[in-house]
Amino acid sequence: MAKILGIGNATLDIVLTVDGYPQENDEIRCTDRSIRRGGNTANTLVVLSQLGHACNWAGMLVDTAEGQFIRNDLESRGVDTAASRLVGSGSVPISSILLNGRTGSRTIIHYRDLPEYSLADFCSLELKSFDWLHFEGRNIEALWAMMRWCSERYPSIPRSLEIEKPRPGIEDLFGLAQVLLFSQTYALSRGHTDPERLLQSVHRQFPGADLFCTWGVRGAVSMDREGRFTNQAAHIPPRVVDTLGAGDTFNAGVIDGYLAQRDTVTILRQACVLAGKKCGRTGFDGLSCSGCQGP
Ligand code: ADP
Ligand code: FRU
Repeated sequence: MAKILGIGNATLDIVLTVDGYPQENDEIRCTDRSIRRGGNTANTLVVLSQLGHACNWAGMLVDTAEGQFIRNDLESRGVDTAASRLVGSGSVPISSILLNGRTGSRTIIHYRDLPEYSLADFCSLELKSFDWLHFEGRNIEALWAMMRWCSERYPSIPRSLEIEKPRPGIEDLFGLAQVLLFSQTYALSRGHTDPERLLQSVHRQFPGADLFCTWGVRGAVSMDREGRFTNQAAHIPPRVVDTLGAGDTFNAGVIDGYLAQRDTVTILRQACVLAGKKCGRTGFDGLSCSGCQGP
């Protein structure tokens, strides 16, 4: 069991399941609705906690019933929230999500009115006991300073960085992590129509990191620091019901694989199988890595 710190968002997800995606200006009924705790880093930590790790979340919360709901949910799933910061006004980040019950696709509309986790908050944490630090690629200026600080003070603690959305300056963070986790959205935003091209171009500039890029139902690709590619098909569950957080689950699978000292090929396979299992179920409960490493 490893001790992991994740720095990023926890959100309130209002999920409406619909039987087919609506047209603009339609009025339709949903077949199900649920209010869930979400957020990329929070989701990743909840999965890692189920895989047996001691997880800690560093992020922002508001002192409201919604903030309490998020905190309770994380704590009930074994994620320690002592490193979070509470503010008295604003709103927790809220995502209104349409989940297409026919395909499992999710459409997210996100609202945020919350200060960011600061460098001062981060530097006040006792980091030396952690085995892994995972950063969500947002709040870029502060994140750069946090990652820099870690690389100077705690060079032996491995760092992963999630690069989901193109944000100004996010590339400045690439040299500060050993594991870079890219999304299809980011690759497309950079003009790469396949994951290999993105990874090749990042590898040329940052040969010191292992690279991963997910590509939805196609699966994912990795390139290790020696420049070796691996392609992994998605693990398709009997029925795809909920792809919300598939990428966050993939990231948990990668981090767990490194902590278990597996090789990149096995790590990629394990992450795809875990993400595929998640797509076959609603939410994140009941996930395990059994059978994830393949034949
Ligand atoms: P995100 O959730 O960040 O949008 P992706 O859609 O790329 O990320 O999904 C992450 C991983 O989840 C993929 O690499 C794949 O392994 C798995 N995955 C995504 N969609 C499906 C699906 N429909 N069926 C099976 N696996 C999927
Ligand atoms: C899924 C997710 C949701 C959240 C949204 C934030 O990856 O973390 O839980 O609402 O993305 O962008």
